[in-house]
Amino acid sequence: MSVRVERGAGPTAAGDRGIPPLVVRDVTVQFGALKALSEVSFTVEPGTIHAIIGPNGAGKSTMFNVLSGVYKATAGDVRFGDAVLTTLRPHQIAKLRVARAFQNIALSGTQTVAENLMLGRHHLTAAGFLSAGLRLPKATKEGRLHGQRVREIAEFLELGDKLETPVGVLSYGDQKRVEVARALCTEPDLLLLDEPVAGMNAEETRRMAAAVLEIRSALGISVVLVEHDMGMVMGIADRITVLDFGRRIADGTPEQVQSDPEVIRAYLGSGDDTEESSA
Ligand SMILES: Nc1ncnc2c1ncn2[C@@H]1O[C@H](COP(=O)(O)OP(=O)(O)OP(=O)(O)O)[C@@H](O)[C@H]1O
Ligand SMILES: [Mg+2]
Repeated sequence: MSVRVERGAGPTAAGDRGIPPLVVRDVTVQFGALKALSEVSFTVEPGTIHAIIGPNGAGKSTMFNVLSGVYKATAGDVRFGDAVLTTLRPHQIAKLRVARAFQNIALSGTQTVAENLMLGRHHLTAAGFLSAGLRLPKATKEGRLHGQRVREIAEFLELGDKLETPVGVLSYGDQKRVEVARALCTEPDLLLLDEPVAGMNAEETRRMAAAVLEIRSALGISVVLVEHDMGMVMGIADRITVLDFGRRIADGTPEQVQSDPEVIRAYLGSGDDTEESSA
């Protein structure tokens, strides 16, 4: 995989680009009597892959939804540079170069891969081509530049030969990579991924893991990876925060959390540590 890099690359790319850390501080989310998250804190260092793992119901998706502004935190805050994300709405967070790919595929199945990816570039176009009734700016110079970038990102995710294929007929693994490609098309500084390998077979999982690693090393962006499958993140995460019943039970390198007795207990106790995924 290779991609033309727009704003510098390599280990120091995130620092060079001025990507700030994402600082999560004492976040609590309460649904009625249930605390889905209890005073959870962690920091995503620029240009790293930071995984959030935990058994079913641990609060992973809740945290993902707080980071992307879909859920309001009951207490605590999330800062990305000067911005306090916990005071912002999802579209305002997206404007801060924070992109997300969903746990359940949210693509337009009848549209081609190219069209779906072009939708990710909408906010980068001068006019905003959606206002012109979904007419994609193929004929314009600006449109050609966006088309070129869409092709690069598609090739980066090994989708280059599927650009004109309707998303609905692609394999599940391909559709999940289109979802990630669409998020990358917004040119993010921070990419939020919710269970990108959920429901994937071993080969699809391997390709996705390789893609996430490449996103970090070639593009230098920060990645928050919410994942049920501990095995998948061990090989690629720089740092891991482990949740269980809404509480942070561990935070450290893969080696550190792997040997943490409380983490082992949480995964063994849940009885679903080998499960592909759910929900
Ligand atoms: N909108 C909601 N309203 C009420 N309760 C919720 C809501 N969203 C999540 N919960 C509850 O909060 C807890 C955490 O759920 P969450 O979906 O964040 O877990 P998860 O770690 O993503 O689990 P999974 O591995 O199954 O995806 C669960 O008990 C869940 O039932
Ligand atoms: Mg979830």
